[in-house]
Amino acid sequence: MTQTESADVVRWTRQDRVLLVTIDYPPVNALNVKVRAGLIAAMDAAAADDAVKAVVLVGQGANFIAGADIREFGKTPLPPPLPEVCARIEASTKPVVAAIAGAALGGGLEVALSAHYRVAIEGAKLGLPEVALGLLPGSGGTQRLPRLTGAEFALDVILSGRHLTPKAAQAAGVIDRVADGSDAAAAGVAYANELIDANAPVRPTRDAQGLADKAAAQAAIDAARQKVAKLRGLISPSRVVDAVQAAVDQPFDEGMRTERSFFLECLDSPQRAGLVHAFFAERESAKSPETREAKPRAFEKVGVIGGGTMGAGISVAVLDAGLPVVMIERDDEAVARGRANVEKVYDGLIAKGRMDAERKAAILARFSASTSYDSLKDVDLVIEAVFEEMGVKKGVFAELDRVLKPGAVIGTNTSYLDIDEIAGSISRPEDVVGLHFFSPANIMKLLEIVVPAKVSKDVVATAFELAKKLRKVPVRAKVCDGFIGNRILAVYRQAADYMMEDGASPYQIDKALREFGFPMGPFQVSDLAGGDIGWATRKRRAATRDPNARYVQIADRICERGWFGQKTQRGYYLYPQGARVGQPDPEVEAIIDAERERAGVTPRAFSDDEIVRRYMAAMINEGANVVHEGIALRPLDVDVTFVHGYGFPRWRGGPMQYADQVGLDKVLADIREFAKEDSRFWKPSPLLESLVAKGENFASLNKA
Ligand code: 3HC
Ligand code: NAI
Repeated sequence: MTQTESADVVRWTRQDRVLLVTIDYPPVNALNVKVRAGLIAAMDAAAADDAVKAVVLVGQGANFIAGADIREFGKTPLPPPLPEVCARIEASTKPVVAAIAGAALGGGLEVALSAHYRVAIEGAKLGLPEVALGLLPGSGGTQRLPRLTGAEFALDVILSGRHLTPKAAQAAGVIDRVADGSDAAAAGVAYANELIDANAPVRPTRDAQGLADKAAAQAAIDAARQKVAKLRGLISPSRVVDAVQAAVDQPFDEGMRTERSFFLECLDSPQRAGLVHAFFAERESAKSPETREAKPRAFEKVGVIGGGTMGAGISVAVLDAGLPVVMIERDDEAVARGRANVEKVYDGLIAKGRMDAERKAAILARFSASTSYDSLKDVDLVIEAVFEEMGVKKGVFAELDRVLKPGAVIGTNTSYLDIDEIAGSISRPEDVVGLHFFSPANIMKLLEIVVPAKVSKDVVATAFELAKKLRKVPVRAKVCDGFIGNRILAVYRQAADYMMEDGASPYQIDKALREFGFPMGPFQVSDLAGGDIGWATRKRRAATRDPNARYVQIADRICERGWFGQKTQRGYYLYPQGARVGQPDPEVEAIIDAERERAGVTPRAFSDDEIVRRYMAAMINEGANVVHEGIALRPLDVDVTFVHGYGFPRWRGGPMQYADQVGLDKVLADIREFAKEDSRFWKPSPLLESLVAKGENFASLNKA
C-alpha cells in the first residue's frame, strides 16, 4: 500500500530524523483491515528512508488504539492479520516508540508492546480487556506482557481486563515513561530524538526476561488456574492461563502460534458472540429517538421523595455522581430514618475500609433531608420513590406541581403504576418521565426510562443524561404493566411456578437455572427480595385475576406462615441464624405436595434441560410481545434489561440473542408443544411467528 492509498487511516510524515506515523480511524482508531495494512506500509516507508532513524506511532484524537475492530469479528478475516503487523513493528531495525494518549486497549496495547519503547501521557488507559468479550489477547498480549512484567502481574491484568493508569503501567514495566502535557505525538518525538542521540538499540519485547524465573512464573500460573476454575461456564479465562503457560514452556514464535489458536477458538464461540452483542447493545440502548432530536435540560440539584429502600439508594447514586440531593419524607421520624438509610451505605463502605469518615462527611455535606416540599424550590430534577399506591403518588405529585420551578423534570420510580395517569394528574404532564431504578439503586446498573404519552423530548433526553451521570445503563421503555423487565419477569416466574406444581422442586429449578448461568434461581431471588411484596400484589390483584387462568397457590401457603425469605430466616429455603445461603426445607416440600394434591396434579419428573427450555421460552415469548407492542424499541433493549437488571448471564448476550442462537423455529416449536397442555398461558407471540415464517431472527430487528 502506498502513502496515498492508506492516507485516510494511517499517514506518516518525517520530522527531521523521526517518522511520525498517525493512526486516524474514528471513532477510536480500531485496528480495521485498512489500519493494519497502513501500519505495515508505514513500517516499510520507515525502512526505505535512510533519513529516518526512529519511528513514532501515535493515534489521532483522544485515543491511541482501542483494540481490534470488534465489528469485524465473525466476518471472514482479511489480511494482514494483526500478529503479522506486530511482528513487522517489532522486527524494525530502527527504534519504534509508541506514544500513548487515551485508550491503548486489547490489540492497541499489543501494538504498543511490539514497539521498542513506550511513553504515555496522563489519562491514558492501558489494558487487555479481551476476556470481557469472550476472547484472550490474540496478537502477543499473553506472550509479550508476561515477558515484560512477569507472569503474576500479566495474568492479573489479562484476567481482570482492568485498565492501568500510566503510573501503574510504568511501575510494572509496561511503559518506560510518563510524559507531561497533553500532546502524545510531541512526547513521542522528543523521546525518539533522545533515543537517537543516545544511540539506543532496538529492544524487542520478545527478548525481555520477565519469565526467566520459571518457578515464580509457574506458581503464578497455578494460582491463576485455581481462580479461573471457579468461573463456571466461561471458556476464555482458562485459555488465558493456558496461553501464559505456553509463554513459559514454548519458544516465542511457537507461543504466538499457540495463543493464536486459542484466540481463534474463542473467536468462534457463542460466548464471544454473546459478549460482543452485549457490548454493542448497551451502547445502542443508550441512544433513543429523543436523544437524537433534543438537548437535555440542565440539572445541577436533585430532589428525592421518599427515603425508604429505593429513595435512599437513589440518593446515594446521585450523591456518588457528585450532585447535591434534597430528600423529602413524611414526618421527622421518617426523615431521620431516610438519613440513616443513606448513612448506612457509607458506613458499610467505611467498615470494609473502602471509605474514610472524612470522605463520608464531604459527601453528606451535599445531602439534606426535610419534611417541607418548599425545600425543593430550586431543584432541577426530582425523583419520586414513595409507596406504590396511586393515591399517595398523586398526593406527592400535586405538591411537586405546587412548589417546583417551571421546567423542573419530575421522574417517578414506580414499578407498575400507570405513569400516564400520574402525569395527567398535574398541570405539567410534559415534564413527567418514568425513572425505574433497580434495588439496590446505588449498585444495580439498569435504569428503565419510561416514556409516557405527553412527555416532551428534552425531558427524555434529560433522563438519558442522568443515566450517563450516574453511570447507569439506560433502556427506553413505554408505559405498560411492569414496563420491559417486570412485565417479562411476571410471565417466566409463572412458568417456574407451574413447573413447581407439576413436579419439579424449587431447589431443582434454581439449580438448573444457576447452571444455565444465572447467579441465583427464581426461588432464591424471591427469598432475597422478600415474599411479602409479591404476596401483597397478588392479594391486591386477586379480584381482577382471570378466574380461568391457572393460579399456583404454593407461594401464598408459604407466606401465610409468615415465611417471607431471608429476613424471616425461612421462605422456600431455611436460613438458620441468618445464613445467606439457604438449605432445602422438607416442610416446604410437604406444602408443595399438599398443594399438588389439592390442585389434582400428578407430579412428574422434569429434566434440567426441560426446566431451562420452559423458563426461557416463557421469557423469550414475552420479550417478543414487548417488542411487538413497541414497549421496547428493539430486541436488544430486552437483552440489556435482562443482563443489567435480572442477572441474565452476560456471556449469553441476553434472552433474545440466546433465542437467535438456539433458533427461533426451535423456540416456537417448544411453545406450540407446551400449548397443548395450557393454551391460555402458552400463546406464541405474533412477532415470533412472523419472524419464523420469514426465516428471520431478532438480530434483524436490531439493525432496523
Ligand atoms: N472496535 C470497533 N468499534 C469500537 C471499538 C472497537 N474495538 N471500541 C469502541 N468502538 C466504538 C463503539 O461501539 C462506539 O461506537 P458508536 O459511537 O457507533 O456507538 C464508539 O466506538 C465509541 O465508543 P464508546 O461509546 O465506548 O466511547 P468511550 O469514549 O466511552 O470509550 C473505549 C472508549 C474505552 C475505547 C471503549 O469504547 C472500549 O472499552 N472499547 C472496547 C475496547 C476493547 O475491548 N478492546 C479489545 C478489543 S478485542 C482485541 O483487541 C483482540 C486483539 O487481542 C486481537
Ligand atoms: P419503602 O416502603 O421502602 O419506602 C417508601 C418511602 O416513602 C417510605 O420511607 C415512606 O415514609 C415514604 N413516603 C410515603 N409517603 C410519602 C409522602 N407522601 N411523602 C414523602 N415520603 C413518603 O418503598 P420502596 O421499596 O423504596 O419503594 C418505593 C417506590 O419504588 C415504589 O413505587 C416501588 O414500586 C418502587 N420500586 C421498588 C423497588 C424495590 O425493589 N423495592 C424496585 C424498583 C422500584
